[in-house]
Amino acid sequence: MQAGTPWLLEVQHVSIQFGGILALQDVSLEIGPGEAVGLIGPNGAGKTTFFNCITGILEPHRGRVRFMGADITDLEVYERARLGIGRTFQRMELFTGMSVREHLLVSLRAYTRAGSMMNDLVSGGRPTDAERGIVEDTAKLVGLDDRIDSVVDTLSLGHGRLLELGRALMTNPRLLLLDEPSSGLDHVESMALAEVLHAVQHARRTSYLLVEHDLSLIRVATDRLYVMEQGYLLAKGPTEAVLNHPRVREAYTGVAG
Ligand SMILES: Nc1ncnc2c1ncn2[C@@H]1O[C@H](COP(=O)(O)OP(=O)(O)OP(=O)(O)O)[C@@H](O)[C@H]1O
Ligand SMILES: [Mg+2]
Repeated sequence: MQAGTPWLLEVQHVSIQFGGILALQDVSLEIGPGEAVGLIGPNGAGKTTFFNCITGILEPHRGRVRFMGADITDLEVYERARLGIGRTFQRMELFTGMSVREHLLVSLRAYTRAGSMMNDLVSGGRPTDAERGIVEDTAKLVGLDDRIDSVVDTLSLGHGRLLELGRALMTNPRLLLLDEPSSGLDHVESMALAEVLHAVQHARRTSYLLVEHDLSLIRVATDRLYVMEQGYLLAKGPTEAVLNHPRVREAYTGVAG
């Protein structure tokens, strides 16, 4: 990080338009090193659009995105990933017949590609001790160490999401972006996910931005919260205070007070 910039991520006055729809209007957001930040808002508020402006899938028409003090607004998705912006995908893309261990290894090698080609030639694809160590540490961190040799077809949806998280961690991100990771999970699975997020935050000092509809997950897994409505930022502040704000309650739940 550059001197004078306390933030890991700074999104400054971002706007984007789709045809006639102003999907984002002058939205700014900051995330500090090691911070857990939430983003909520009704359907269509612009959360995913905003998320895509950070990962680089979308380019804002106005505003800048800065990461570790550098302007990354014009960088490609893969360049941002290299700098340390990781993400999970909403739709799980797990491969039938492959184990948890194999999924993590493939993600690790995709990240350290040159090494793996050499490794594949020398060892016929067997993991090195170093790779094995990283894969097993990550499986443990996300709570899948006892399922590490299970084929993914046998995993619950909750365990599948934890594996997605583990895969995202193989690039050793400084910032992890999660778009509705609890969708389809029951309460117990969501709380397990929250525990893993805390563990990742503490063990690796990874910051994360959690886009969610599940307010119980937001409550336990974030320290600060931003609320969007129709492309605008409606509120920001400490999570509990923001959730209790009457305007937020009204906008988000449709019930005032
Ligand atoms: N590629 C696109 N082309 C046109 N309009 C889009 C595009 N992507 C999003 N929009 C519109 O922008 C607005 C914001 O959508 P977005 O998906 O960001 O909302 P969201 O807050 O993620 O909603 P949800 O909670 O349902 O996931 C919506 O009106 C949506 O229809
Ligand atoms: Mg969305």
